[in-house]
Amino acid sequence: MELRPLGRDEFDRFVEALDYPMFIVTTTDGTERSGCLVGFTTQTGIDPPRFLVCLSDKNHTMRVAERAEVIAVHLLARDQHDLAELFGSASGDEVDKFAQCSWEPGPAGVPLLDACERRVVGRVLERVPLGDHVGFLLEPVEVEAAETAEPLTLQDVADVEPGHEP
Ligand SMILES: Cc1cc2nc3c(=O)[nH]c(=O)nc-3n(C[C@H](O)[C@H](O)[C@H](O)COP(=O)(O)O)c2cc1C
Repeated sequence: MELRPLGRDEFDRFVEALDYPMFIVTTTDGTERSGCLVGFTTQTGIDPPRFLVCLSDKNHTMRVAERAEVIAVHLLARDQHDLAELFGSASGDEVDKFAQCSWEPGPAGVPLLDACERRVVGRVLERVPLGDHVGFLLEPVEVEAAETAEPLTLQDVADVEPGHEP
């Protein structure tokens, strides 16, 4: 039998039933700051600990992350839809998102969002092309793990229109 790659609409029939936590990923190359809403993430290792973040090659955040030493990954709580909307529906190509939220610089100057008390900062070990996204493999170097309310998930942000076409 010939193996024909599925088109986007056909594959969507599988992925539309999925739900998973949403994160805000932030980064800096030392001159520019950037950050966006991200759902494509996963832990990839236990010992040593490893975490993968996938960034669209269209996004401002990806372009800054290409030159960055570290990336911060912030878990969102269910009542943080407003923050998800700011980072998911606007692009750093047009807007300074960091002028509209409270943050402070962390390791290597990466912006840490004050509202997100569950986060990990990772050193970028590898950048892997993954189709229209680039995988950034992180080695965690700093963690903040305050008690968090239920996470905000993909289904909670179904109304947010991405600032860049995926
Ligand atoms: C529900 C949802 C999930 C998203 N997941 C990702 C993702 O996993 N990776 C990514 O690069 N962008 C993702 N985006 C898109 C970016 O957050 C969005 O295009 C953002 O405006 C890009 O900002 P930037 O250009 O400043 O980086 C997602 C958007 C939404 C609404």
